[in-house]
Amino acid sequence: MDGQDDTQATWGGRFAEGPSELMLRFSESVSFDKRLAPFDIAGSRAHAEMLESVGLLSPEELTAIRDGLDTILAEIEAGTFSWETRYEDVHMNIEQALTHRVAAAAKLHTARSRNDQIATDMRLFFKDACARIDGELVWLMRALVTVADANRDIVLPGYTHLQRAQPVSAAHHLLAYVEMFARDRERFAQVAERANWCPLGVGAIAGSTLPIDRAFTARALGFVDAAGNPRVTRNSMDSVADRDLHIEFVSACALCGTHFSRVAEDLILWNTCEFGLVDLPEGFTTGSSLMPQKKNPDSLELLRGKAGRLHGHLAALLTMVKGLPLTYNRDLQEDKPPVFDAFDQTTICIQVLAGTIEGARFNRVRCAAAVADPNLLATDLADYLVEKGLAFREAHHAVGRLVALAERENIALPLLPVGEVKKICPAINEDWVQVFDLDRALARRENPGMPGPATVAGELERWRRELDGPATRPVET
Ligand code: ARG
Repeated sequence: MDGQDDTQATWGGRFAEGPSELMLRFSESVSFDKRLAPFDIAGSRAHAEMLESVGLLSPEELTAIRDGLDTILAEIEAGTFSWETRYEDVHMNIEQALTHRVAAAAKLHTARSRNDQIATDMRLFFKDACARIDGELVWLMRALVTVADANRDIVLPGYTHLQRAQPVSAAHHLLAYVEMFARDRERFAQVAERANWCPLGVGAIAGSTLPIDRAFTARALGFVDAAGNPRVTRNSMDSVADRDLHIEFVSACALCGTHFSRVAEDLILWNTCEFGLVDLPEGFTTGSSLMPQKKNPDSLELLRGKAGRLHGHLAALLTMVKGLPLTYNRDLQEDKPPVFDAFDQTTICIQVLAGTIEGARFNRVRCAAAVADPNLLATDLADYLVEKGLAFREAHHAVGRLVALAERENIALPLLPVGEVKKICPAINEDWVQVFDLDRALARRENPGMPGPATVAGELERWRRELDGPATRPVET
């Protein structure tokens, strides 16, 4: 190439010198974008087929390009492909390798730019990543439902302000997490849906003068609507400049991270000696190098920590994009490390949370002791008074005074002498103690969304039906 090596084989025409070694190291992305190779090759294949269909490649050239791409993909999968930093990114590495083998490869970049190529690769990546995370979330939700089902008779204090509030079943508490992860699934599905538009063919910014067929490539790559109609992006400039999907995907990961961090925090608290409500599995805890008695909830602490890492990725992307003039700017190459790390960490976090939860054991005795605190049913006592005709505010005030009296007397609320109780609240009868029957209290909470045992059993049944399907884990990591 005019005396240069082939470092800038794809754009070296106007240059007399190649990039400095420092610049090569600084600007390369192949070290992290090579994972896009299967998508990049699929895109090249579809593009070549389209070029042939409109007469810009001969059938023989197409066959040579297709065979060449197949060989390269096989080498990449076998780990024998030689990735070169000097070729900068995944696109140029594959194009160079193909060019060295197949003369027709010089025509592959007809009506194509790395700008629409990377946009296409990433859309294919997002569709795949969302499907994989969805599979992992299903797995996690099934684990939560199984553990909830196995512990439906366990009741523990529910907390607000980390103060004991009202009794709930362990199953109801665990199903709260299932709801969160169900919304995460919806978010990933929405990202995949918005990813499902093909940018290939918009070129660098303004398309091409050549008679390409964008619908052909969209169809070949599976960018189609429910009826099978091809979906092509509608504005060439937006197609190469837009990074909304990256942000939305990482945002979905960050929010999922917030969810698994909250689950982790509950379990960390429940696992302390002070709470003692659960025991964590040894496989997901670690010991201390110094203190022999320790069994630390490291998996959960890491889940909490990784959520911070995911949030950081979202901030990085939002900041990177916000000041960029249309259209493509090289800044955008930096979008990939946060996206890939968000995918990898979200995936493994979901797996680790599922494993930790599957192995967690509720401590029946400690749960029963904690939930025996009668103050957890102080609100039920106020409801009892409402049934006796008091306005809720009056009832609340009266029960507050009773709680304060019991505290002063250092006695459990239901053990206050009924004579004393009647002095504060004449509407109370001898039957007031039945309010403190825990089973009865839960059984009275059977409206939709409440922790009554029948309602929770119905929810467990609903989730089991909804999550029913092949029990195979989709991600091979
Ligand atoms: N590696 C580049 C990236 O990820 C691909 C697009 C490069 N386009 C360009 N005009 N330099 O952003």
